[in-house]
Formats: sequence, structure tokens, C-alpha cells
Amino acid sequence: MNCISKLALTAAATAAIMASAPVSVLADVASGHDIIPRPTKITEGKGVFHPAADMSNVKTRITGKGDPESYLLDITPKKATITAADSAGLYYGIQTLLALSEAGGADGIACATIEDTPRFPYRGLHFDVSRHFRPVEFLKKQIDAMAALKLNTMHLHLTDGAGWRFEVKKYPRLQEYAAWRPEREWREWAKNGARYCETDTPGAYGGYYTHEEMRDLVDYAARHHITVIPEIEMPGHSDEVVAAYPELSCNGKGGDLCPGKEATFKFLEEVLDETMEVFPSELIHIGGDEASKHAWKDCPDCKHRMQEEGLKDVDELQSYLIKRIERYVNAKGRRIIGWDEILEGGVAPNAAVMSWRGTEAGIKSVNSGHDVVMTPGNFCYFDFTQDAPFREPASIGNYTPLEKVYSYEPVEDGVDPDMAAKHLKGVQGNLWTEYVTDDSHAEYMYYPRAYAIAEIGWSTPEKDYADFHRRSLAKNEQMKTKGYNVFDLADEFGERPESLKPVNHLAKGAKVIYNTPWWDKYEASGDKTLTDGMYGGWSHGDPRWQGFLGKNVDIIVDLGEVKPIRYAGGSYMHSAGPGIQLPEYVTISVSDNGEDFTEVAKIYSDVATDYPTILMKEFGAPLDTRARFVRFNAKGSRVPSSCTFVDELIVN
Ligand code: ACM
Ligand code: ZN
Repeated sequence: MNCISKLALTAAATAAIMASAPVSVLADVASGHDIIPRPTKITEGKGVFHPAADMSNVKTRITGKGDPESYLLDITPKKATITAADSAGLYYGIQTLLALSEAGGADGIACATIEDTPRFPYRGLHFDVSRHFRPVEFLKKQIDAMAALKLNTMHLHLTDGAGWRFEVKKYPRLQEYAAWRPEREWREWAKNGARYCETDTPGAYGGYYTHEEMRDLVDYAARHHITVIPEIEMPGHSDEVVAAYPELSCNGKGGDLCPGKEATFKFLEEVLDETMEVFPSELIHIGGDEASKHAWKDCPDCKHRMQEEGLKDVDELQSYLIKRIERYVNAKGRRIIGWDEILEGGVAPNAAVMSWRGTEAGIKSVNSGHDVVMTPGNFCYFDFTQDAPFREPASIGNYTPLEKVYSYEPVEDGVDPDMAAKHLKGVQGNLWTEYVTDDSHAEYMYYPRAYAIAEIGWSTPEKDYADFHRRSLAKNEQMKTKGYNVFDLADEFGERPESLKPVNHLAKGAKVIYNTPWWDKYEASGDKTLTDGMYGGWSHGDPRWQGFLGKNVDIIVDLGEVKPIRYAGGSYMHSAGPGIQLPEYVTISVSDNGEDFTEVAKIYSDVATDYPTILMKEFGAPLDTRARFVRFNAKGSRVPSSCTFVDELIVN
């Protein structure tokens, strides 16, 4: 058995943990086996076990039989015995023992027999080290936390417009130039033209990992039974590559590589050679998301490629690139994984898919026999704020508290169960870091939400949020003693209070006439949305807020008959991340016939357009009138590319 050294290492960790466990906080859960992720089956025994500091009263055995990563942990007053199918199972048995001893503190561990098997083989966290470079020590610290949560995959987003982070010996401008920028804050950098600078420019911000550093990280991760999957973005999100090597783009501008040019393939293959040399993972992430494809339409090389290969549109051109890269990667004995855009124009035959824009792509891919990792934005994106925005650091918008992440069930309706058993590989939490400059802020965004990913990925699907919440509070205290900056779950404010209970008003259930059509991406519940008696919550993505792209949002509420009106108001959202702006002003007018309107109020915004986070403002006014029709005409903000979100329209 080759696990002796791991066991010895863990024994040292146990001793340290035992010395530092905050007994007072954890005493009430001492015998409850309250750990995350929840084990598959616990049969309570009699008595209490105290692990020796050197773990000499822990016996281990690998049988070579049974499900991968699974283990049986038998705890009696005299000894604990871990019987595992493989070394990963043994490792997780030890993690459980450590977690139980940490939870039990000085009270020890209540005797029990624990049978435990992961639900999914892929349980991941994603690290966006492009937007902000993070030291290897930070990544190792997160590996420690991941291992204790039985997470087994670290997805490293190494390349993106904000900086290239992996040394490529054949293309040194990537690390000399594309890895550095003049501004530290991502928003300031973007506002100043998103430029790069030479390594030795005074104040240059950024960095990259050498091969040696990444080999060391991969080795450290492997000792924690974690696979590091590198991501090399293509063909979009490649502004930094285009800046360093403009000849790889269609016209020297933009963020897309040119799939018409052979130089692009030579570049990608040589970069992937070095990537695969350093990262031994079977899966290599090739990005594939959000290519604009604009320049491809007018590029002679792209047009020539499309003609030569019989490709009917730019989606098929992207698919040509991905399929060709897949053949290259497969020939080296590896497989590609990409964001769900790789389905557009035809998916590469052996590709695995990361479903992020929703769940449809994941469902479709599983059913057609592709391996899938579910990471739908609405549940698994940790860049969204986790509490009331007025108490949280600026974020990209939206609202994804712990409970929302925990509620996610990866085996979606519409997935063929037999195909899911084979191809639905698991789940991942993603943290995009445009708004997350500091390492400690990143930890704050990961924890406790990563606990939920761990539990979804490992435990059986039954949900009990109250129980999970209680275990998360205890886990948070343990994480704090180890120096992690976690979100203070004990002090959570929660969802927008106004959105939690129905509001009764004169226009509730009234017909709504749209002079401005809603944005089909944010239709909410169509023409019922604005008078359903429910305010939207903190998240513009919740199905109550209705979005509009127009510069004027002109909506009429029909009360059915002329009624006395004492108040009218519309509630609008400001959210800096997604570019949602309050109206400059809202004009309210009334009519008896729906054609001749009289203006009765005009309410101006008093919120600065650069307000950094999220807020809701009701543009309303007391009235003393009678009418059947009430019109809310919102003059959209002058901020370029902004949009308008509304819910609800109130009349009283
Ligand atoms: C993504 O969030 N663009 C994968
Ligand atoms: Zn081109």
C-alpha cells in the first residue's frame, strides 16, 4: 500500500486540528456526525472514540473492490477502521474521521459505522486567475479546503482578456506582455481601454505561473486527490493573445482568434503541447464560450476556410476549430471539455461539455452521450452576490445565496436516467473575478457556497436546508480558525423583504399594454409580470423582473373601469455589474379612453449612474384623480448599452 506517507501527513494535520478546535462552538454537535458533505449512511454505535494524536488507533485497508472513492469507516471506542476500494476512498475515509474529530472537539467522536460513496465522480471548483492573478500559495490553501470537502477537481481558468497566466516557452510575449496591465482594478483597466504593458513597466499588475510552479501545484493537488484541469481559452476571450500576437486575429483587433489562418492552429497546438506536458489531466478545457465571431464574417482567410470546408456560417467555423483541436488533443491521449457554446455549429464527437448558460445544453449533451459537468449560472456562479447587495462588496450582479446553490439538483427533468448514470459527471462552482481583486475576497465568495457544491456532488439527493445550514455554520467556524475569510452566514440578511410577501393594490391582476416590447431574454412571466402582486427580489435574473432594451419603456395598465386613484408608482432596478440603470425619469399619465393621456407626475432619479452595486427605486407619486388607464413612460438612462428592469407597477 502506497498511502503510508499520506496517512502520516494527515496525522500531523489531525494533531494540529485537535489542538485548535473551538470546543465551545462545536460542543452541541459533538455526537451528531455533523459534517459536510453528508455521508451516505450512518449507523450509530455505542461509546466514544478519541483518535490518538499520531493516529495509531486508526487502521486502514484498501481492498481493490467496490466503487471508486468509496469507503467504510467503523468507529468503536478502541479503534477506527477504514476499509476502502481505492486510495482515494481511503483518503476520504480519513477526511471524514478528521472532520468528525474537528466537529466533536474534546468530546471525541460518537461511535458509528459510516458507509460512504460519492454520487458523482466530478466535484469541482473553478478559479479565474486571469482577471486577477493569485499566488500558488493561495491555490494550495484552497486545495486544502477542497480536499476536506471531498471536492476533487480544480478548474484553472488560465487565459482570458484580462491576462495570460501560463508560461509558454514558444510564445514568450504571452508572459512578457499579455500577463501584465497598468491598472489593478479590473473596471478601471477596462475603462482605460483594457491595455497591456511590459513586465518591467513600473506598477505593472499581473503575473504568470511557470511550468515548474504548475507542476508543483499539480503534484500538491494529486496528493490531495484533486485533479487540476487547465483551461486555455479559444477562439474568444483571447484579447490578450491578439494584443501580443496580432497576426493570430482576423484584423489585429478584438478578442477572437482567426480560425481561417493556419498560424492560429500552429499557435494553439504548440500552447496545448506545453499545457499537456505540465498538466497530466485527461480533460483539457478549451473554453469555447462567448466568441463574438464578428470579424470572421469579413475576413478573407475565414471566408476562404468556410468555402474550402463547406461551412455554412460562423458557428460552423467555430465548430471547425474546436473539432480540429479535439483531434489534436485526442491524438495525445487526452479529451477536451468546453463551455456549452461548443454545441453551436455541431459538437466535437468526443467532447465533454460544461453547461453554464442554463441547463438545456447539459441535458441535451447527456442524452446524446457526451460527458457533462453541470455549472448553471443561476445556481453555481459564485461571482453573484450572496446576500443583500447593500451589505455586500460590489459584484457582477444577481443574487445567489447559499440556499439557492444548495437547492440545485443536477439530474434535471428531461435527462435520460441511464444516460445520466454514464455521462452526467458532476457539478462545479465557478468564481469569475472581474469584481474580486483580493485573495481574501475570493475566499469570501467561495465559502460557504463551495460547501453546497460539495454536498450536491457527493451526497444523496435528499435536501434539508435547515440541517445543511446548521452544519455550514459549524463548518464556517472551523474554516475561520484555519484562517479562511468566510461569508458570515450567521449574520445573513437574506432576500429582499418586499419580494417575500404579496402586495395588494388596485392594479393587481390588471391587464398590461406594452408599447415597448420586453427583452425576450428577460420576459419573466410575460404580460402577467408587472401586476402579479409580487415585487422582484435582489436578482435581476429572478423570474419577476422584466427587462427592456429600449431607451424608452412605455407601459399602460388598464384598470378595467374608471376608478379613483391616490397613488401610482413603478419599481425599477439599478445593478452596476450587468449594466442595468434606473430611468432618468418616469412620466405618469392617466386616461379614461386609453388614447388621450394627461400627465399627472414626473419623477426624476436621484441615484448616481455610477452607483457601484444594486438598488431598487420606486418612481411613484401621490395622486388625486380618476382614470381607467395609467401609463408609466420611463425615459431610459443615457449610459451607453444600459437596459431597464421593472417590477412591479403599483396603483392605489
Ligand atoms: C462563462 O461564464 N462565460 C463560461
Ligand atoms: Zn479570420
